[in-house]
Amino acid sequence: MNNKTVLITGGSKGIGKETAKLLAATGARIIIACRNLENGEKACEEIVLTTNNSNIALRLVDLSDFKSVREFADKIVSTEFRLDVLIHCAAILLDKNMLAPNGFDLTMATNTMGPFLLTHLLVDLLKRSAPSRIVYMTSSTHFYGKITFDELNNYIPSKWPQYNYFNSKFANMCIANELARRLEQLNVTVNSVHPGIVIPEKFKSVPLPAFIRKKIFKTPEEGAVFIANIALNEELLNVTGQYFNKFKKSHMSIRTMHEEKNEEIWEILKIQTGVSGFDPRM
Ligand SMILES: NC(=O)c1ccc[n+]([C@@H]2O[C@H](COP(=O)([O-])OP(=O)(O)OC[C@H]3O[C@@H](n4cnc5c(N)ncnc54)[C@H](OP(=O)(O)O)[C@@H]3O)[C@@H](O)[C@H]2O)c1
Repeated sequence: MNNKTVLITGGSKGIGKETAKLLAATGARIIIACRNLENGEKACEEIVLTTNNSNIALRLVDLSDFKSVREFADKIVSTEFRLDVLIHCAAILLDKNMLAPNGFDLTMATNTMGPFLLTHLLVDLLKRSAPSRIVYMTSSTHFYGKITFDELNNYIPSKWPQYNYFNSKFANMCIANELARRLEQLNVTVNSVHPGIVIPEKFKSVPLPAFIRKKIFKTPEEGAVFIANIALNEELLNVTGQYFNKFKKSHMSIRTMHEEKNEEIWEILKIQTGVSGFDPRM
């Protein structure tokens, strides 16, 4: 991956940081995108130390704030010559309803809307760097998600706020499929990957036999291997619009494969995130 550039949102912690390490070890330039300066600096130091790759950059962005996403994307476009892999890893799962700066549900704004806007603003750079890849970190919980157009258009506090996470992952799968369709002829692939249930080693002391624990739970290091595979594997060069459960190409929720509905979600997200005629076209 020498001479390649990878941008990974949520690269300051957890699976994102471990994925960044695996990709940095290949010699790629890595751009870590996160909100928190201290987490980001610590992660970059750790990545440089463990991989001997000093071509690691930190760029701050708050994905729930569209103004911040635009400033971030402007900086990337004006300073980077290429972008070979964009990994959407940052996400939140909240146990209460909260609002983003623009009045949308905070989970949807962070997990779905901000990444949608970011992809839009970076797509020309990805096209220029083709063959390039967009990787969405999804979750098997997307099977439980649904998006009603009312929910997307009007903020309705959820009775079970965690459900917003499922919905955000569901919406991302719809968007990933629509993106894959739109970018198919341009050598930019778009795939989604579920890394398993990932918890840090220190929390693995659940009272279950070790072999069951090992089977059910993955460490961030183990989870990262599945993401790096989608980002790097030469055999996946022309594979697009797929859902991977760990290494395995799997069935996604059939409700994320409805072209007309995906287009409708796309159009609503364009309006919500303020994608305008001046922004790159897809
Ligand atoms: N853990 C699991 O079992 C599991 C299972 C399936 C899928 N996933 C997916 O895997 C991904 C990573 O999960 P994880 O558990 O490793 O996450 P994590 O440890 O909680 O890390 C979240 C990352 O997202 C960043 N982030 C959060 N809100 C942000 C915002 N508004 N703007 C920019 N960056 C923001 C954080 O940056 P700061 O340092 O700035 O806070 C951090 O780097 C997520 O997409 C998650 O949905 C996880």
